[in-house]
Amino acid sequence: MKALVLAGGAGTRLRPITHTSAKQLVPVANKPVLFYGLEAIADAGITEVGIIVGDTSQEIHEAVGDGAKLGLDVTYIPQRAPLGLAHAVLIAREFLGDDDFVMYLGDNFIVGGISELVEEFRTERPDARILLTHVPNPGAFGVAELGADGRVIGLEEKPVRPRSDLALVGVYLFSAAVHEAVRAIEPSWRDELEITHAIQWLIDTGRDVQATTISGYWKDTGNVTDMLEVNRSVLERVDPLVEGSVDEASEVIGRVRVDAGARVTRSRIVGPAIIGPGAVITDSYVGPFTSVSENCLIEDCEIEYSIVLQSASVKGVRRVEASLIGRHVEVTPAPRNPAAHRLVLGDHSKVQISS
Ligand code: DAU
Repeated sequence: MKALVLAGGAGTRLRPITHTSAKQLVPVANKPVLFYGLEAIADAGITEVGIIVGDTSQEIHEAVGDGAKLGLDVTYIPQRAPLGLAHAVLIAREFLGDDDFVMYLGDNFIVGGISELVEEFRTERPDARILLTHVPNPGAFGVAELGADGRVIGLEEKPVRPRSDLALVGVYLFSAAVHEAVRAIEPSWRDELEITHAIQWLIDTGRDVQATTISGYWKDTGNVTDMLEVNRSVLERVDPLVEGSVDEASEVIGRVRVDAGARVTRSRIVGPAIIGPGAVITDSYVGPFTSVSENCLIEDCEIEYSIVLQSASVKGVRRVEASLIGRHVEVTPAPRNPAAHRLVLGDHSKVQISS
């Protein structure tokens, strides 16, 4: 069994922050979302992985390399434009050969991995197995309609009037039968070769398409509330480990990881929380569900339920909560008695000012 991981797509700037142009590299608990997928693949005993790359190929290369550190053997498959998920399967034909494979969308996050699913697929060997999850906004996804016996009868891509609230999760298991399907379909209204159509083709031609409904699913949508929430749920499982330095005047409580090279001085860290390598926390309180990335500076402030990305600094501000702070951002107090707020904000920023 092989894996095909989709990390292509246009290099569009990510909202709400432009911390990276590859959406598969959005960090969850200080780790790119793509890595959770790759680790889940490795855990399922799959080593041969093809990664589809597009405009952001270089960033993905830099992050993943040859895959050895994850126990994977990675082959990069360049896609000239994001022509659709089924197009990705089409161009991966040589890599995939006639093997069964799991297709994993690099911006999807699944709690609990895929080992069981892969095992089940290996035993039952249907032509395809899709994963579904209940969502409040099915129109933003591929949507499945199930018959009375729980079998998939129809699939629609981003329907205006969804027939159910069951969204297609970005993990699919396929036998070689899918190759005929991706060759048979035509581009959709959005000019993409849709995998949803290929799966519908399998259903229509009488192939065995099975579905499993899961919970614990997240897809990067550029939504801060969701991002904080997925960060929270991953931090809840973090293994406490202090490799950095914590001085005697500091206190570290609960599930806290302080990475090598981080320095905590006269501060209190209450987990679950992660302090990335090289981060410096001084005279501060870092509260539950906070991820502080590498080389950040937190000084003389309180921060909780927040994500602070690489090399940002937060100094002298009383309390920061439910915030997402981008790379190299500087947060400082305004000078005394400010007559006006002075703001330097990136594209699409949202700021709440309390005075
Ligand atoms: O995330 C689940 C959804 O993914 C499913 O519910 C939909 O049925 C499915 O079509 C897909 O929808 P999106 O339109 O949200 O997919 P997106 O364009 O975000 O692409 C998903 C991932 O695949 C992303 O990491 C980029 C990558 N990709 C996408 C396309 C279209 C490629 O590598 N090549 C491509 O041509």
